[in-house]
Amino acid sequence: TQAGLADNYGRVATDLRVSLTDRCNLRCTYCMPEEGLDWLAKPELLTDDEIVRLVSIAVTHLGVDEIRFTGGEPLLRRGLVGIVDRTTNLEPRPQVSLTTNGIGLARQAEALAAAGLDRVNVSLDTVRQDTFLQLTRRDRLKDVLAGLAAAHAAGLAPVKVNAVLMRGVNDDQAPELLQFCLDHDYELRFIEQMPLDAQHGWDRSTMITADEILEKLSDRFGLEPTDAASRGSAPAESFTVHGGPATVGIIASVTRPFCGDCDRVRLTADGQVRDCLFARTESDLRTALRDGASDEELAERWRTAMRGKLPGHGIADPSFLQPVRPMSAIGG
Ligand code: GTP
Ligand code: 5AD
Ligand code: SF4
Repeated sequence: TQAGLADNYGRVATDLRVSLTDRCNLRCTYCMPEEGLDWLAKPELLTDDEIVRLVSIAVTHLGVDEIRFTGGEPLLRRGLVGIVDRTTNLEPRPQVSLTTNGIGLARQAEALAAAGLDRVNVSLDTVRQDTFLQLTRRDRLKDVLAGLAAAHAAGLAPVKVNAVLMRGVNDDQAPELLQFCLDHDYELRFIEQMPLDAQHGWDRSTMITADEILEKLSDRFGLEPTDAASRGSAPAESFTVHGGPATVGIIASVTRPFCGDCDRVRLTADGQVRDCLFARTESDLRTALRDGASDEELAERWRTAMRGKLPGHGIADPSFLQPVRPMSAIGG
């Protein structure tokens, strides 16, 4: 048996998150400026074949059993269906999921399901058209709702919804978002905003905390924590709503970090391994790949990359520095 992606703190990464592009068709204020960012140039991006090669090495040489495709917005990547199809045909077959803003999902959900995609997580911070426009700077709420419905109809279950609350923007809408998700059989998770925005506007003192979110929801819904033992390495704490079976999740990355149970590793769209969302260094696989390295050489580079993984994100440390790469270029 071959060695996996172990770090120096006893954690082993079995969940690979692959960013397929740094571009996006929304401009969420907590993520990107209106004018967008300096996108990666085409030659810097891994090709479809290069992505499948690295994913295949992760699965067959490194014990990775879950692949999540992210962006930017991964539905903007032309080869997405083909990449998913080739990934679900690997042996042993990994679980394959997608994190998307939902725009274009109505058109692609069937093909993605047919390619073997197991499930999707869709970002949706509001169900009001005016708030959606204010928050994402684009009038695309209808497309996202159609995407969610199509994913559900295509059997990409459970369909999860990710929501970030912004003070003074949508923080009064948590209950209506939950009611919407309950009505449509989507599993809602609220995420504490993390210091990963390109504009460096994050401020701990104005961030909406997990406790605050729970308080807002408890006014209208009976919430009970689910069995903590069933959480594993999942980032979300889960609560049953009105006795279940429906649940709502809270991803409290800032106030209740879960780094000690982390089983994740990331690959950027330009072929760099990141051992953490907040990593300050990356390991270049693209150069070795393009220089003709063997599968085993690439696997060994990847193993080495993990040994620098820090025990935690350190957001609360006085010396904390935001990573150079913003959220949209890491993929969350
Ligand atoms: P599931 O497998 O469905 O639980 O997916 P997920 O929640 O891990 O993935 P998703 O892409 O939907 O991410 C939801 C939120 O969790 C995003 O804000 C991610 O940035 C955050 N997240 C995912 N993985 C990590 C992680 O390893 N550390 C931290 N701090 N946040 C993470
Ligand atoms: N902190 C927390 N979550 C964020 N997301 C985007 N930026 C941030 C941030 N700074 C969310 C998106 C998407 C998921 C991948 O991460 O809304 O649902
Ligand atoms: Fe795009 Fe996601 Fe960033 Fe919003 S949070 S601008 S959907 S990459």
